[in-house]
Amino acid sequence: MTAAINRTPLASDDDWWRSAVVYQVYVRSFADANGDGVGDLQGIRERLPYLRELGVDALWLTPFFTSPQIDGGYDVADYRDVDPMFGTLADFDAMITDAHALGLRIIVDLVPNHTSSAHPWFRAALAARPGSAERERYLFADGKGEQGELPPNDWESIFGGPAWTRVADGQWYLHLFDPAQPDLNWRHPEVRAEFEDVLRFWLDRGVDGFRIDVAHGMIKAEGLPDVGFNSMTTGRRQSELLGKGRLPYFDQDEVHDIYRAWRPILDSYPGGRMAVAEAWAETPQRLARYIGPDELHQAFSFDFLDATWSADSFRKVIDTALAESTIVGAPTTWVLSNHDRQRHVTRYGDGEVGLRRARAAALLMLALPGCAYLYQGEELGLPEVLDLPDELRQDPAFLRTGESRDGCRVPIPWSGELAPYGFSPEGCELSWLPAPATWRALSVAAQTGVPGSTLELYRAALRIRHEHPALAGTAGAVTWLEAGPGVLAFRRSAGDTVLTCAVNVSGAEVVIDGYGRPIVASAELTEQGGGHLLPVDAAAWFERR
Ligand code: GLC
Repeated sequence: MTAAINRTPLASDDDWWRSAVVYQVYVRSFADANGDGVGDLQGIRERLPYLRELGVDALWLTPFFTSPQIDGGYDVADYRDVDPMFGTLADFDAMITDAHALGLRIIVDLVPNHTSSAHPWFRAALAARPGSAERERYLFADGKGEQGELPPNDWESIFGGPAWTRVADGQWYLHLFDPAQPDLNWRHPEVRAEFEDVLRFWLDRGVDGFRIDVAHGMIKAEGLPDVGFNSMTTGRRQSELLGKGRLPYFDQDEVHDIYRAWRPILDSYPGGRMAVAEAWAETPQRLARYIGPDELHQAFSFDFLDATWSADSFRKVIDTALAESTIVGAPTTWVLSNHDRQRHVTRYGDGEVGLRRARAAALLMLALPGCAYLYQGEELGLPEVLDLPDELRQDPAFLRTGESRDGCRVPIPWSGELAPYGFSPEGCELSWLPAPATWRALSVAAQTGVPGSTLELYRAALRIRHEHPALAGTAGAVTWLEAGPGVLAFRRSAGDTVLTCAVNVSGAEVVIDGYGRPIVASAELTEQGGGHLLPVDAAAWFERR
């Protein structure tokens, strides 16, 4: 077993987020302490020692607030309380206290673009008349057509179908996601004041940061103009433009005013409180506008997640992301998987090939400067579960589009011979989504201490990342090396100490020579001449002092 990382509890470093490894906890699927088949805050609390030993610096918890759970908690009915399904505020306080004592920071998910339709504001809006003050907090509009029977414009929900739903008195309201997630009117001062207060509520409870959900969405273009392209007219979904083209409901310039108002609030608290944007923008340059000293600290680089398994594709997105981050003075934020996307083992080809590539990609990501986000279970090499029975799927997008994100949300296997493999206490057999039988061999217990297991690979890489002078903190810019076609190789150095990361995407084994001694590898290396044979779809870190 690897030694625990040597660090003092909560080192007081305001810049911790610049180089942190953040572990995303999808709360309902991480650990179930009370035996109802759903993960909870107490479950997280009990597993904190595992996370510390893994070697991460912070946890991002997906929404655990009061919610009807139509969209896995991204439909919040009370922003200042814990859903009973996950525990209580006291459980949250106990969890964050223990996390901090172990040196782990806590980031919570803030969902400002929309509330739940069960939120008191939306209930009041429905009960009130068209044109009333209650409706002003949301985006209500009259329909088109003689009787107002057509939606106010051609906008489509990201989950499929029209982005508008008609209410009993004939008006329509906007929901860029599910009808149970009405969009707020961010030009309304009460909405702004409310969220500034919600930020303070959680900052006062000690949170170290926020992940901002749909951070590009809060402001809609004046006059709510048509896009002029949707499933009805072209047979192609409007969401195809996400991150590729201009949409009147995303990435509007005015959204930056909101972040410029939030930043002084974050900065007024001690200890480096931060925020990371889940933002989709047309270009890396527009994405970079969300980060900087007067806005947010980070924005996920989804281009890295979307890169295909080729040296050119990785090199291009890495170079662009690094260049943008240099311009804005904030570090790049790398991510390979999250709760919305197919797990990268499966994206890279599934089965043995997918796993080999996923392990190599982890070494690539963890050698880059900046902050890395891990998604729970990637350290176990979990694949997407592709064969969940339809009747168990809960993603609201599934009903509207047939596409479902449930396959990356299956509960984590911890130990034991029978599903749900230690996710729930002994004797509880039913988790909210079933884990496949193949996951018995992938559990934390099954991989712990096993040389070459994915879990031990992550532990080793995280330990080196923390301790190695060329990787620790923000040290060491990336210098690309010519290592032959299909081989990604770059070096980072601190003084005379040089660390080189080499990834073989070439489709044939290659000899790596001249980078020094290997210190971690995603597959077995064999010595050849003075160098090493790096197998297909493998990566390794080499060191020279
Ligand atoms: C974000 C979340 C996703 C959610 C959506 C609506 O994209 O990551 O899970 O469905 O926002 O809140």
